[in-house]
Amino acid sequence: MVVRNICCIGAGYVGGPTMAVIAYKCPDIKVTVVDVNEARIKAWNDEDISNIPIYEPGLEDIVAEARDRNLFFSTDIEKAIDEAEMIFISVNTPTKTYGLGKGKAADLKYIELCARQIASVAKTDKIVVEKSTLPVRTAEAIKSILDNTGNGVKFHILSNPEFLAEGTAVQDLLNPDRVLIGGETNEDGFVAINALVDVYANWVGRDKILTTNVWSSELSKLTANAFLAQRVSSINAISALCEQTGADVNEVSKAIGMDSRIGSKFLKASVGFGGSCFQKDILNLVYIAKSYGLNEVADYWEQVIKMNDYQKRRFASNIVKTLYNTVSGKKIVFLGWAFKKDTNDTRESAAIYVADDLLNEEANIAVYDPKVEKEIVYRDIDNLNTRTSELNRKHIEVVNDPYEACKDAYAIAVLTEWDEFKTYDWQRIYDKMKKPAFVFDGRNIIDGEKLREIGFVFRRIGN
Ligand code: UDX
Ligand code: ADP
Repeated sequence: MVVRNICCIGAGYVGGPTMAVIAYKCPDIKVTVVDVNEARIKAWNDEDISNIPIYEPGLEDIVAEARDRNLFFSTDIEKAIDEAEMIFISVNTPTKTYGLGKGKAADLKYIELCARQIASVAKTDKIVVEKSTLPVRTAEAIKSILDNTGNGVKFHILSNPEFLAEGTAVQDLLNPDRVLIGGETNEDGFVAINALVDVYANWVGRDKILTTNVWSSELSKLTANAFLAQRVSSINAISALCEQTGADVNEVSKAIGMDSRIGSKFLKASVGFGGSCFQKDILNLVYIAKSYGLNEVADYWEQVIKMNDYQKRRFASNIVKTLYNTVSGKKIVFLGWAFKKDTNDTRESAAIYVADDLLNEEANIAVYDPKVEKEIVYRDIDNLNTRTSELNRKHIEVVNDPYEACKDAYAIAVLTEWDEFKTYDWQRIYDKMKKPAFVFDGRNIIDGEKLREIGFVFRRIGN
């Protein structure tokens, strides 16, 4: 079977870039990305390419090339489903905020809505691909909804987890380490799997396209993220010990990373990991393990999250302690709000939690981030429901000029590893600040020696 028409439901951080790259690399396939969010679709269609709603290096060029050639963005979901042979589900699957599994299980309501919509519209056989991060056995649930509510047409479910990291999405999609496709292990299943393999084979070597059963594929996604997050929590645990003993976590990290069995990636100590996947996926894993009565397994993975929460709290309390145990009424500048550099995504960003702790101590915070909009900062902090939104606005200002922000500030906290922070005129910043001027580098990116020479009191993670 040769796929000529693809639809993707969900034009977010996963659906948008993934479909843009598929369309770019497969000019013979018509790719339509649909979303219920009209503003988002409008932004994807904006004539000014710099207004597309997701910031990713290299994405603008790819969209500019493919858009209106074979890549389309639309709100007409039914039409796109009807025309497509293959439908990707890329809607969000946040952690449940209510009811059973609250705070742990994935909220599958958007997925279920999609499945029901596909079932009600489809008049021909469809291959349905789950692309969102989902708990194990979701494919089964989708299949059950489709088969029981559909119009008698056949549905084949594939799991094709996304391994792209934000900030490097385009590169990750163009040159993936591997593409994973899980499907049913029967004749029809193989046909569906091969149809998707052929799509990727337009630019990915077949040796890098791995096929498995559906459950292995779903669980591999959760496991990959859990292992990556575990490395960050492991090195962060060591960073706390370094600060007490005089060891330097950067040196430890380098030394262990050169062991080829360990490897050097994902060993950068930080204020804590964020992003839409790590926490959510581990919580999923914990929830699944618990639901099968595997309490030790659940506890083991839950500790990765606990360590991450500890690291964020520890960073905030170090600031308070260092500023003579009070930050009340003091201005603290946040450099960065996004969960990592080169993205405007702030989901689960460590900055949000550090801000919350400092606001509890009555600090005033000035936030500067090169890509995050003001309203998003307020939305993130309001969503914690710790205090009224008026109070949040009173104590947080979001600024466009990092130098202005530093005027009369007592301390700077580096929360995101944006490259531009490294090249700032730190002398100029020093001159504007209250003395002693403190810098807390939560990302270990600033040249501490240089700052100390200027006169700053400089602290970083794990030293
Ligand atoms: C992750 C996975 O990498 C990706 O494969 C999956 O599909 C989605 O989840 P992403 O959340 O975009 O991607 O970002 P990632 O680069 O993995 O970073 C996650 C968090 O860990 C960030 O907050 C980052 O700053 C932090 N991190 C990463 C560290 O603190 N130290 C490190 O050494 C690496
Ligand atoms: P991700 O990082 O997983 O891509 P996002 O939140 O960036 O998550 O994107 C998910 C998108 O899916 C959002 O733009 C949301 O509006 C869209 N969406 C959610 N449910 C539906 C639905 N039933 N039909 C169409 N689009 C949906």
